[in-house]
Amino acid sequence: MPMGKGDTISCFAIKDIRPGEEITFAYFGEFDCLLSHTRHKLLHFVCKCKACLPDNVGEISTDSTPNRNSILTFREVTEDNWRAVANLSLKPGQTGNLAPNVWSLCEAHYSEDAWVRAIYADETLVGMLMMAIWDPDEAYYIWRFMIDGRYQGLGYGRRGVEFAIAHIRQHNPRAKTLGVMSTPPEGKKSENPLKNVKPEDSPHRFYERLGFKEIAPPDEDGEIMMSIDL
Ligand SMILES: CC(C)(COP(=O)(O)OP(=O)(O)OC[C@H]1O[C@@H](n2cnc3c(N)ncnc32)[C@H](O)[C@@H]1OP(=O)(O)O)[C@@H](O)C(=O)NCCC(=O)NCCS
Repeated sequence: MPMGKGDTISCFAIKDIRPGEEITFAYFGEFDCLLSHTRHKLLHFVCKCKACLPDNVGEISTDSTPNRNSILTFREVTEDNWRAVANLSLKPGQTGNLAPNVWSLCEAHYSEDAWVRAIYADETLVGMLMMAIWDPDEAYYIWRFMIDGRYQGLGYGRRGVEFAIAHIRQHNPRAKTLGVMSTPPEGKKSENPLKNVKPEDSPHRFYERLGFKEIAPPDEDGEIMMSIDL
């Protein structure tokens, strides 16, 4: 029987099965957290059992669009999902805060000290987190971080940063700080209209709310270095 990630499981009948006899299968393990149509596709049959009805509680929670209770997972970027990560988009007015994802993925691919993950809310791709590990015993940096405009305001940004901190603490307890370059709170003006950022579109207050503090004056691009102790 095929499983979701290319594996198979084998089931053995304890008695002979006659042609046409109905057999049942319990949706345990990996299957019970899949949507019914995904489950049916994997198993090569359509089922109308209670667990597959649209008003089943599990079905509602997994079918629903990303919400505050969705489970966030941080997955590697692979040949299967990199295009989708590259196609994530921000709200209009936010593009001046960071490079396009396709650029970031390219940079990550060729930088040994980059660590990048695709962020999923349940099974929906919602964002991207890219860190730089230039001096692992000293400081980590959020190099690029974005939540797609459709899924902002659901707490994923906060949980993304909390995940980054937990990840660093787990992998390098000696690291002292996590830094980030942010557009200043007053936004920024540029000759390129796509790089203009209004105050309300700057992530500065977002990082401030999470405990990051300014540690250096604005650089030549007007970006401010912020940092939080680990
Ligand atoms: C910044 C960003 C990652 C926040 O993601 P998000 O999922 O919308 O944030 P959350 O829903 O987790 O918000 C967490 C808190 O920050 C606040 N917040 C979020 N964005 C804010 C902003 N631009 N200004 C002020 N507060 C903000 C929220 O109101 C919330 O406050 P609360 O905890 O008191 O309710 C997202 O807006 C984004 O991708 N922006 C464009 C890209 C960017 O600027 N990236 C950072 C540069 S590396």
